[in-house]
Amino acid sequence: MKIAIIGSGYVGLTTGACFAEVGHDVLCVDNDEAKVASLRAGKIPIYEPGLEEVVAKNVEAGRLRFTNDTPEGVSFADVIFIAVPTPPQPDGSVDLRFIERVAREIAPAIDSYKVVVDKSTVPVKTGEKVAETIRRYAPEADFDVVSNPEFLREGCAVEDLMKPDRIVIGANSDRAMALMQKIYEPFVAPVLVTDINSAELIKHAANSFLALKISYINAVSAICEASGADVEKVAEGIGTDKRIGRAFLNAGLGYGGSCFPKDIAAFIAISDDLGTPFDLLKEVQRINADQLDRFIKNIRDALWVLQDKRIAVWGLAFKPNTDDVRSSVAIHLVEKLVEEGANVRAYDPKAMDKARQLPVAEKITLVDSPLEAVEEADALVIATEWPEFASVNFKAVKESMLAPLVFDGRNLLDTKTMAKLGFQYRSIGRPIIQAVSAETQAPVAATAG
Ligand code: UDX
Repeated sequence: MKIAIIGSGYVGLTTGACFAEVGHDVLCVDNDEAKVASLRAGKIPIYEPGLEEVVAKNVEAGRLRFTNDTPEGVSFADVIFIAVPTPPQPDGSVDLRFIERVAREIAPAIDSYKVVVDKSTVPVKTGEKVAETIRRYAPEADFDVVSNPEFLREGCAVEDLMKPDRIVIGANSDRAMALMQKIYEPFVAPVLVTDINSAELIKHAANSFLALKISYINAVSAICEASGADVEKVAEGIGTDKRIGRAFLNAGLGYGGSCFPKDIAAFIAISDDLGTPFDLLKEVQRINADQLDRFIKNIRDALWVLQDKRIAVWGLAFKPNTDDVRSSVAIHLVEKLVEEGANVRAYDPKAMDKARQLPVAEKITLVDSPLEAVEEADALVIATEWPEFASVNFKAVKESMLAPLVFDGRNLLDTKTMAKLGFQYRSIGRPIIQAVSAETQAPVAATAG
């Protein structure tokens, strides 16, 4: 099949590369000339495991090409995917100007039957608007609009695309549906066929439900801290019920990233707009914000004053295996520590370059290793659960720090091990390891008041 992807960002590029990988002819379009030039030169602008190899292999095979020219993409392809950004507006609603512009650009270039697919995350009823727009600018155009939401997780996007849990295709025409099914034939995954509005809604409802799960366990983690229970055990206990499931029940500093905060705000705005307010999701947002505030209060309680304290922060990306710092809770945490006058020394295995571009970078010290971060630190904060942080030499960490105080915002480390090593260790919803008792050498676990 001949496919054009308009927008060669994170979603568009990964989708295009994986379509090429299964044998389709793909032309990726982007209006950023520098980006297209760099893609043509084999440079991938994002860090995504496996992506560089898939892109290189398919460029080499001649199945994956890049251009600045939208009309070229439209006339080349049978199916045109729209994968441009849908950023949030200040009130949480979705800014659809890029989608609208692409619809206008596509319209005059339609020279035969085309399927126009919405891949970007959009509010329900956007498909109708895209069709309306194309018809307005090209009344004679022969086309159908389809919704085919993405469910890619950053860090395993290639795998998610090659082996998806499900493929959702929302179409109101058999002809369009037949082409879509042909595209997805090489992928072994259940295909859920729906109308356009349902497909659009599935994306927002799915992400909101996942965020709800995270906020649920985070609210439980607060109760665990107050009562001395262990949130990990509670998550296991409820997660082994097949109806609930263990995934997305990891308590921590809360969800971040370029999707969840934006999508939850959008779903709230959409439901308000439709006259069916979804207040439960406002509570999800509140719990998410509280989680970070509660964590910072714990740091403050332990250190008394944050002004001039040297705090090491491990992790800046919004989650492990990505260099993405957009809406990262780790970054919000650093900003708050800086606001209170702390001297932050931060390290992340992959996100240093992206972090360097943020305004807060000027107010902190970015260092080259976890051990450099903890030199003479009053406390260590783990903000992103990179697996490699768990295998750092903690004896060396302790020797390097002014005081052995660790705040683990992602429950990466084992409480017993930290106790044995003599750390004062506080994590999320798990017993606090206060200190090593001088007489017994036994760790003292305490509950929060
Ligand atoms: C998400 C969806 O998973 C994906 O389907 C959608 O297409 C885009 O949004 P992504 O943003 O890459 O993907 O991140 P994800 O792995 O889902 O994690 C989102 C946030 O939730 C991260 O900040 C992560 O740290 C947090 N999280 C996740 C938790 O705090 N606890 C968990 O148990 C799981």
